[in-house]
Amino acid sequence: MTPPILVVGATGNVGGAAARSLLAAGLPVRVAGTDLARLRSRFPGVEAVHLDLHRPETFPAAVRGTDGLFLLRPPAIARVAPTLNALVDAVARHAPGHVVFVSVTGADTNRVVPHHRVEKHLLASPLPSTILRPGFFAQNLADAYRDDIREDNRIYLPAGRGRVAFVDTRDIGEVAATVFTDTTAHRSAGYTLTGPEALTFDAVAGLLTDALGRVIQYQPASAGGYLRHLRRQGLPLAPCLVQTVLHLGLRRGQAEQVDPTMAGLLRRTPRTMAQYIRDHREVWERR
Ligand SMILES: NC(=O)c1ccc[n+]([C@@H]2O[C@H](COP(=O)([O-])OP(=O)(O)OC[C@H]3O[C@@H](n4cnc5c(N)ncnc54)[C@H](OP(=O)(O)O)[C@@H]3O)[C@@H](O)[C@H]2O)c1
Repeated sequence: MTPPILVVGATGNVGGAAARSLLAAGLPVRVAGTDLARLRSRFPGVEAVHLDLHRPETFPAAVRGTDGLFLLRPPAIARVAPTLNALVDAVARHAPGHVVFVSVTGADTNRVVPHHRVEKHLLASPLPSTILRPGFFAQNLADAYRDDIREDNRIYLPAGRGRVAFVDTRDIGEVAATVFTDTTAHRSAGYTLTGPEALTFDAVAGLLTDALGRVIQYQPASAGGYLRHLRRQGLPLAPCLVQTVLHLGLRRGQAEQVDPTMAGLLRRTPRTMAQYIRDHREVWERR
């Protein structure tokens, strides 16, 4: 029997998409996470294993018998040395195989983001690897912005008129499957992954309006206004600050560059924001 690829974060956006794409490509998968019941309900019939990145004692059993690791940094984890990097070491010790790491655009040179330290650790390890560096997710509309859209008919962000080359995490999952299907061809590669077009949030609100049949508006927020908005939702200060800074970057055009790499890897045009919204309309229906 072919040993499975260990997929971290399979209950989340990118990990879920990766697990589904690997399975669709006929590759054996072992999904991993902190909540076994949730993993089993999302992936019935797929081998599931308990893995908590904060508990290194869970690593050996999770990685043994695998051939390959799909790794991402859960957003709440800032300290990568005792968590993600320790898992990479456990893979090197117990089941050396190809690692695909989901980083973020620019992390190869941006030392501030924690992904940078994972990239460096991976490249210094004996493991063969491929690094995916995606841009801003379309799926943020269903996560961080969902309630504003669903309840208040608005997108409220300090992104000004900045344009964003939104990437659909389903496409990132398909790229992961492409890599694991031919790891030799993608060994040591780093891929910047964006969607096919750069849109303002005004344009995104227009697409939501068309798809939902009710008016959704983009209301540009000030940095302070957005910070207060997030704090009112009960988020701790640190992630509120990170989110605010990130969206101010969008205002300056930090995520506007469309990169052709995704189209080349998938041999088709990446999914558009219009397609993403059409496929997930129920997320923003009024309750
Ligand atoms: N959002 C964007 O626009 C964007 C753009 C580029 C890159 N990224 C990067 O993408 C990553 C986030 O991906 P995502 O949106 O897929 O995240 P997500 O949907 O929040 O999923 C996070 C996953 O991590 C798992 N997890 C959380 N704590 C864990 C722990 N202690 N041990 C093991 N697993 C744990 C969660 O599962 P359980 O809790 O069930 O275990 C969940 O499956 C981040 O590194 C982010 O920087 C995001």
